[in-house]
Amino acid sequence: MKHFTVSGAVAASPVRGPQTMREIDEDGMTEQGFKRFRRRRAPAAATPSSAGADAGRPLAAPVSVGSAQLPATLPEPWERIARVPFDGAAQERSRLPLVSRFRTAPAAKSFDLLRTRLLHTLKARGWKRVAVTAPASGCGTTFSAVNLALSLARVPGSRTVLMDMNFRRPGVAQAMGLQAPGDMSGLLSGAVRMEDHLLRPLPSLAVGLNVMAGQDAAEILHGRSCAEAVDDLMLRSGADTALFDLPPVLEHDDTAAFLPQVDGVLLISDGTSTTAAQLAACEKMLAGHTQLLGVVLNRARTSDSPLN
Ligand SMILES: Nc1ncnc2c1ncn2[C@@H]1O[C@H](COP(=O)(O)OP(=O)(O)OP(=O)(O)O)[C@@H](O)[C@H]1O
Ligand SMILES: [Mg+2]
Repeated sequence: MKHFTVSGAVAASPVRGPQTMREIDEDGMTEQGFKRFRRRRAPAAATPSSAGADAGRPLAAPVSVGSAQLPATLPEPWERIARVPFDGAAQERSRLPLVSRFRTAPAAKSFDLLRTRLLHTLKARGWKRVAVTAPASGCGTTFSAVNLALSLARVPGSRTVLMDMNFRRPGVAQAMGLQAPGDMSGLLSGAVRMEDHLLRPLPSLAVGLNVMAGQDAAEILHGRSCAEAVDDLMLRSGADTALFDLPPVLEHDDTAAFLPQVDGVLLISDGTSTTAAQLAACEKMLAGHTQLLGVVLNRARTSDSPLN
């Protein structure tokens, strides 16, 4: 009598179950019983040839899943921009006098007036992109850009973007009391997405911060990827107005490099230091490249204010 070691075969079987074990017990260890056992087990074991025969057949119908299991729709890019606190504490840290803290101050009224006039001009021409710059450093470009952006953001149902394009002396983060780092060159090279770079201190205001002072700023601002990134920003953010804080016109060629990306320029002059010759030089430089939307007189004497 032959002895078959079936226990090993059964143990290796992937479909081992109580019935199999019972059959082995009933048939004992006879050769006939073992052959019958193998015949019955054969269909259960998938072989490469049977798998090959099935290969051309249609797969089983897809299992229908309830709508609750489908991936949820992503919010639009604007909603995906991270919110950051912009409360009293953040404004307290701010280096600049923010007019949003002093709504009744004459400066706040001046920015609201500037906002309204700017919006009229932009709307009439279908424009959205505004460069904010000055003849020289320290005239108040960042002061004006931040306060104008805060004023624009108060227009109900609007979206405003403020971008710190000053790679020489980035100032928006400090001006607004925001401490998050900002990789502006990553955004402009296309490596970082708009919604991953921008921050929203207010529901209607997104800011692109810049902390890197770099020597190759003009090259970054000149590049094709910069133009594409700005187009993408405008398209995907759905911004009504975008302000770009840029370095002084007469000190670097960064602003000149970026002019093709904007519809017009707001020139900030310092009532205590800017000369007529500087303003004339700026106008000459901008002529033929973009529109001069206006010259803003900062640090004006009280008697210079149109509100008086
Ligand atoms: N109208 C103003 N009232 C009070 N302080 C002001 C005013 N304008 C500017 N400042 C102050 O002057 C300083 C320089 O202003 P700001 O940073 O806006 O200059 P900037 O033109 O952006 O300079 P840079 O070219 O170096 O970026 C800041 O400390 C700011 O608080
Ligand atoms: Mg500045």
